[in-house]
Amino acid sequence: MRSLYNLSDLGLDEIFRILDEAEAFKNGAVYEGAKGKLVANLFFEPSTRTHYSFEAAQHRLGCCVMSFAPESSSLKKGESFYDTVRTMESFGTDALVIRATQNEYYKELEPIKIPILNAGDGTGNHPTQSLLDLLTIRQEFGRFEGLKIAIAGDIKHSRVAHTNIGIMERLGMDVYVSGPEMYAEEGHKFVSIDDAAKDMDVIMLLRVQHERHKEGAKVLTAEEYNTGYGLNANRVAKMKEKAIIMHPAPFNRGVELTDDVVECEKSRIFKQVTNGVYVRMAVLKRAFGGF
Ligand code: CP
Repeated sequence: MRSLYNLSDLGLDEIFRILDEAEAFKNGAVYEGAKGKLVANLFFEPSTRTHYSFEAAQHRLGCCVMSFAPESSSLKKGESFYDTVRTMESFGTDALVIRATQNEYYKELEPIKIPILNAGDGTGNHPTQSLLDLLTIRQEFGRFEGLKIAIAGDIKHSRVAHTNIGIMERLGMDVYVSGPEMYAEEGHKFVSIDDAAKDMDVIMLLRVQHERHKEGAKVLTAEEYNTGYGLNANRVAKMKEKAIIMHPAPFNRGVELTDDVVECEKSRIFKQVTNGVYVRMAVLKRAFGGF
């Protein structure tokens, strides 16, 4: 069964194969094996990019798509997460795309017999986001080995940071973290945003994940955050000629990046979104046994 829970479950050869398949879809490759497959998208947490780029990928592959709406489902009558997923499987679905609040929610779903594609689990992992980030970096630089990246922001609460740090280190990238100390985690190399602007090949900004913070947690003003930890025109002007800016989004204008940075020449933020469709086509092809 070709589920995708976490990139740490995959060998580097499998990761490169997914990136190659995604690049092929970008270049117009066709896969017939997903036509008519019934796929359900179960998002127990809000999403724009992941939910609808999976849906775009499914439509492009000719799948039949069901989108689950938790707020109007029997979750409201007390049905459990497991029973909801088991019910969706019982409709005869061929694969499930799931985002949920619990870290490693998929461990509870072991009895499910169809592929599960993890669209984000709590603060744990976000494998398809990481794959689209890797595809974007490879398109830009043609390699991973030796590239310097700073992941800047709320590291502690970010599933994107957790997945990316793991896979980028495995790929030989020189990974740093940056941002307020209250969002830091032990065990990573730290760089200030000013030094990151001068030295890095990639700066990946993160949103402050307020929804995952404890009640009463300190909140910086937008100005305090941007001045101390974010990107603005002054810092972008100090970046290396070929350096790029990434963000998984959604982003908060005026906080981790100013308006003029969002679509500046160095920004690859919307390219990442476009690559997300190709990566999700590739992981769906894998789920259906296409490679
Ligand atoms: N990057 C990302 O996961 O965005 P969404 O929460 O909108 O899916």
